Formats: sequence, C-alpha cells, structure tokens
Amino acid sequence: MESFQHKLRVMLRYDQTAKTYNEQYSMEQEAKMKAALKHLMIKSSFAVLDLGCGTGLLFNFLNGKVKLLIGLDLSLAVLKLAKKQASDVGKFSLVRADADYVPFRENIFHVVFAFTLLQNMPDPIRTLREIIRISKPYGKVVVTGLKKSFSWKEFKTLLEKAGLKILRVSDGELKGYVVLCAIQKR
Ligand SMILES: C[S@@+](CC[C@H](N)C(=O)[O-])C[C@H]1O[C@@H](n2cnc3c(N)ncnc32)[C@H](O)[C@@H]1O
Repeated sequence: MESFQHKLRVMLRYDQTAKTYNEQYSMEQEAKMKAALKHLMIKSSFAVLDLGCGTGLLFNFLNGKVKLLIGLDLSLAVLKLAKKQASDVGKFSLVRADADYVPFRENIFHVVFAFTLLQNMPDPIRTLREIIRISKPYGKVVVTGLKKSFSWKEFKTLLEKAGLKILRVSDGELKGYVVLCAIQKR
C-alpha cells in the first residue's frame, strides 16, 4: 500500500512537470544517452525497451536502428509528449505500466534502458529484477543513477545484489552514473 502511494505521488509529479521536462532536462539526459550508446552495440534485429521512457528523448537516437522499440512509463502526460515525437522520429510503441510489473513475458528484450528511473522506485532491486526477467539471457542493460540520490557504492551494490554484471561505468562530467551491465542468467 505504501509503495502504491509512493508510485502515485511520483506519477502525479511527472504528470504535472511533463510540459517543462524537455526544457529542463533534455541536455542532461541526452549527454547520458550519448555516453551509453558509445559503448553499446545495437543491431537492427534487436528488441529494445526504454523503461521509464518519459518524453521519449531516447527514441531520437534509436529510431530506425532496431526491429522493436518500446517505451514504457507510468505517467500519461509524459507518454502523450512521447507520442508527439512519433511523427518526427518514426515507429515505436508506448505502454503505460508500472516498471515493477512490466506486461511482457520473460526473455524478450536484447537491451533494456532505464535512464534516471531508479530514484523513483520504492524498491530499486525489485525493479532491476523485473528488468532481468524480461531481458534475454545474454542481453544488456543500461541503467543510470543520479549522483544526488545514490553514492557510487550504494548504486553498485544495488546492481550487483539484483544479479547484474557491471561491464562499464561512465560518469565524468555527468550528473549520473551511466552503467552498462550484462544479464547473467542461463
Ligand atoms: C527522470 S524521468 C526520466 C525519463 C527518461 N528516461 C529520460 O531519460 O528523459 C523518470 C521517468 O520515470 C517514470 N516513472 C516513475 N515511476 C515509474 C514507475 N513506477 N513505472 C514506470 N515509470 C515510472 C516517470 O514518469 C518519468 O517519466
């Protein structure tokens, strides 16, 4: 119940700030996206999920490059803005759902992105395990953590406890850790 209330509050906050999100954060988020994509091989056969996709900033980088591109978010207001991008950047699907209960079956996605989502989640390890569930056994995950919300030690511990293998970390001038992880399941 507490976790439901927490998620509801977060959703309302993003609903209310949706219209100014890009103005405020697009530069910061796009810098993280560029850092992540530099070290990730994306193939045209891939199924890709952007968890907590927000206004769809990542779609600008991936559109036309993968077979299946899905954005998932809890806030209807941000999804409406993401949908507007459809005419500019092309084909993707949007789903309104909670990142802890992703409405897809196991082992679907080659890559799952979760940019600046985890600080919103009541139990980040649970969210990471949900990411692992829907990822292919040898898939990759890009997850970012705000430095103001997590120390590096805390963030690393979360990822490792969830069962992810850290492959690369970019932080430098960024406001968040951008971490490329491998799924480890057989
Ligand atoms: C900081 S924004 C990041 C948006 C986008 N990934 C980006 O990098 O621009 C966090 C997003 O997570 C979404 N979010 C928060 N809690 C969520 C939940 N429980 N399930 C799905 N999305 C959630 C918010 O609605 C918001 O769009």
